This record gives sequence, structure tokens and C-alpha cells, in this order.
Amino acid sequence: MKHCALIGIGPGHPDFLTLQAVAAMRRVDVFFLLEKAGRGKDELLALRRQIMQRVRPDGGYREVAVPSPPRPRAVDRDSDAYRGIVADWHAEKRRIFAHLLTRELAGGQTAGLLLWGDPLLYDQTISMVEAVARELPETVEVSVIPGISAVQVLAARHRIPLNRVGESVQIITGREAEQVDPARVQNAVVMLDYNASFQRFLGQDMDIYWGGYLGADDEVLVAGPLDEVLDELLRVKASLREEKGWLMDTYLLRRRSPKST
Ligand SMILES: C[S@@+](CC[C@H](N)C(=O)[O-])C[C@H]1O[C@@H](n2cnc3c(N)ncnc32)[C@H](O)[C@@H]1O
Repeated sequence: MKHCALIGIGPGHPDFLTLQAVAAMRRVDVFFLLEKAGRGKDELLALRRQIMQRVRPDGGYREVAVPSPPRPRAVDRDSDAYRGIVADWHAEKRRIFAHLLTRELAGGQTAGLLLWGDPLLYDQTISMVEAVARELPETVEVSVIPGISAVQVLAARHRIPLNRVGESVQIITGREAEQVDPARVQNAVVMLDYNASFQRFLGQDMDIYWGGYLGADDEVLVAGPLDEVLDELLRVKASLREEKGWLMDTYLLRRRSPKST
């Protein structure tokens, strides 16, 4: 039997590894590294290697790096078209996982995939690997190790709970933030925002809690009433993009007046 461990590594610093993740990494014979193209991807790959070296300072594992197809951007606003692009992207990734599990993992061995943040949130690797494992003639046992997500680090850094008493919190993409009715949003965490979709929520009496490169040494935080911090936020985002060439950010939008219960 083969084994494949999908291990959440937290969003940007080895200190976010859980003891369970460390134990799982110690059992790995082969680490599969998916190398994405584009600026910033080298840093993300370097962090994975740093984590591997920290947990396994004596080595004793193999590393297989393969190029990974880039995540499609939601440029096309037509949902069916976008879903088609994502389906092709997933099919390509499934082909890669099938190749890795068939050709790069021997019977009795354990493969490890280090997944950013928590693999249960905006990450389809679990479903893809499960689908591939079901199709293979040999048995591949899949295990999942949850991780600390960017959402948790955002709330912790700003020292706020994600929801106030009696309220719920939504987690949405930047694409959805462009489409929802702002008046209906009470607490929303926004991820995968390639624009600055929070601008749609101006004049809504909302606070924003924003974090860039959360957990990393160059983490940046901005918080305050959205209408007041908007200019600062746009300036910060533009200068970070200019400086580093890439930006990973997450934010919580919160209506200032709590819902009366
Ligand atoms: C594909 S999703 C993966 C989320 C990941 N599974 C998690 O649990 O954090 C990528 C998005 O997560 C958010 N993200 C991940 N790491 C981050 C970080 N270090 N700082 C800020 N946002 C981050 C960003 O919104 C980014 O667009």
C-alpha cells in the first residue's frame, strides 16, 4: 500500500506548524513540491524547503519538484466560462498527482504534500488527490493534517474574534465580494482578492481588518473604519506590489453596528 499525507503548514512561517504536522512530516519518504511560475513563487517554495530542513535536519527523504499549472484568474465574469477554466486546471493537476503517485512513490512508502495554510480552505488538493487515488489500480491511503489558516492569523494579529456574539461570519472570494449586495454583509472575510474589492463597501459604515503576508517577517497590518483607511490601504497595497512584485492578502469587513439580537 502507498500513503499520501496532505499536510497543512500554516500561512507563512514555520512556527505555525502543528505537532501533528511535524509528526506527519517525519514519516514522509518523498516530498512532492509543485513549483508554480510567477513572482513570489520562489519565496513560497523556499519556505517549504526551510520547513522541510527544520523538521528533518538530517535529511533521509527524497524531494520531487514538478512544474504546476498557474491558478486561473477570475478575469472572465461569466461563471460557466470560469468554471470551465478551473475544471481544465484541476484536470491538469490531477494528471500531475497521478504521475507522482504512480511513478515517484514505491509501495510501502509515504508521500508528503505541504499545503499552504489549512488544506481545508480554498484548496482543492484533497478532492483532487482523493479522486486520483480512487482511480489508481493500487491502494493509496490519503490522510489530511489540518493547518492554521490565513484567516486565523488575521484575526489573531488584529486581536479580534471572527464573529461578535450571535453573529455569523462568511468567508468569500474577491470575486464574490464584487457581486454581493454590500448592505447584506455583516462580517465577511475576503480571500483571493486580486483587485481591491473592499472599495465596493464604502459608505456602509464598516470596519476593515486587513493583513498582507500574514505570519511572514514582512507582515503588514491595516485596520480602521473603511471610509477613513481606504486611501492608506490602496497606497500600502500599491507600494507592496511595487516593492515585492506580488502580494497575498486577506481581510475582514465588519459592519460597525452589531446586529441587534
Ligand atoms: C488559495 S487560497 C489558500 C488559503 C489557505 N488554504 C489558508 O488556509 O490560508 C490563497 C489565499 O489565501 C490568503 N492567504 C494565504 N496566505 C496568506 C498570507 N500569508 N497572508 C495573507 N493572506 C494569505 C490570500 O487571500 C490568498 O489569496
